[in-house]
Amino acid sequence: MTDLHSKTAVITGANGGIGKDVARQLALRPEMARIYLACRNRDKATTAKAELEAATGRHIFDIVVMDVADQGSVRAGLAHIDGPVDALVMNAGVIGPQSMSLTTDGVTTVFATNVLGHVVLLEGLLADGRLGEVAVLAGSEAARGLPKLRMQRPSFASTSTDELATVIDGSYFAGRKPDFNLAFGQAKYIGALWMAYLARQHPDHRFITVSPGATTGTQASKDIALPLRIAAKYVMPALGISHKLEVGAKRLVDGVTDPTLSSGVFYASAADKLKGPLVDQADIFPDLANPAFQDHANEAIHRFIT
Ligand SMILES: NC(=O)c1ccc[n+]([C@@H]2O[C@H](COP(=O)([O-])OP(=O)(O)OC[C@H]3O[C@@H](n4cnc5c(N)ncnc54)[C@H](OP(=O)(O)O)[C@@H]3O)[C@@H](O)[C@H]2O)c1
Repeated sequence: MTDLHSKTAVITGANGGIGKDVARQLALRPEMARIYLACRNRDKATTAKAELEAATGRHIFDIVVMDVADQGSVRAGLAHIDGPVDALVMNAGVIGPQSMSLTTDGVTTVFATNVLGHVVLLEGLLADGRLGEVAVLAGSEAARGLPKLRMQRPSFASTSTDELATVIDGSYFAGRKPDFNLAFGQAKYIGALWMAYLARQHPDHRFITVSPGATTGTQASKDIALPLRIAAKYVMPALGISHKLEVGAKRLVDGVTDPTLSSGVFYASAADKLKGPLVDQADIFPDLANPAFQDHANEAIHRFIT
């Protein structure tokens, strides 16, 4: 984002964790004139807004109530966003056993939150001609597997539309042991494929998927088992495997502001790493750059748009 004047950003899940720090960092840029905090809970958003105003000295934050796991709520929220959106940061996400449950749309909560609601939001802006320069999706190294954390790489027999649809409606785990880490990695994988599909369809915008990397100071692990929570909060920082909140958030901010990042690419840490420089994940997991898989992801997703 190099132009100067009156830029608007929308950030989902902006009341805490990485999303809130993305809002803080963007607000410190003079070109930002308005930042929508798209959150499902108005009280939490109101508290975050006051804290962000105090931290930045800027009074440019607006609240939009939006539950990204509910397509109707996303559409209702969209109607409360005025004018063009120069930067959309699709940050809201969940992981954990509860996220395996199905929403009223018949979609796993992990998929609905991390991906489907964002599809409704981004495609709604595109349909209105209101998406400006760039959309950034929060990815995760889980999308290409994390052997260090025993998170399997998503792998499919043919990566067909039908097969990817089983991830979205949760039937992938019928007859198998549910694995919420894998379901999370699959959702982030399909999200990155969809963003790459959009990049091919809309060369006039930038679609960047970026993982914040292993980031401390967030609530991401609140729904997972206690030993894993302890590992995320204490062991990983002590071992130097994770980085601080502002470093993880800056990766998403770079997705917005760094014109050298290429549209359609999924950027995250180098192989076997969870922090450090951003690299193109297709160099680690070539399926991400397969246009047929990207098309299948888009088709599978659209079976579930109501
Ligand atoms: N932290 C990491 O190490 C890490 C690593 C890789 C990727 N990521 C990704 O980074 C993003 C941010 O994660 P985080 O670590 O900052 O997690 P976090 O602290 O749990 O924050 C998640 C945010 O998403 C919001 N959210 C959850 N479900 C929502 C819904 N249905 N509608 C609207 N907002 C919703 C939460 O709101 P509530 O307060 O209302 O729950 C919260 O504001 C996620 O996409 C995550 O997958 C994080």
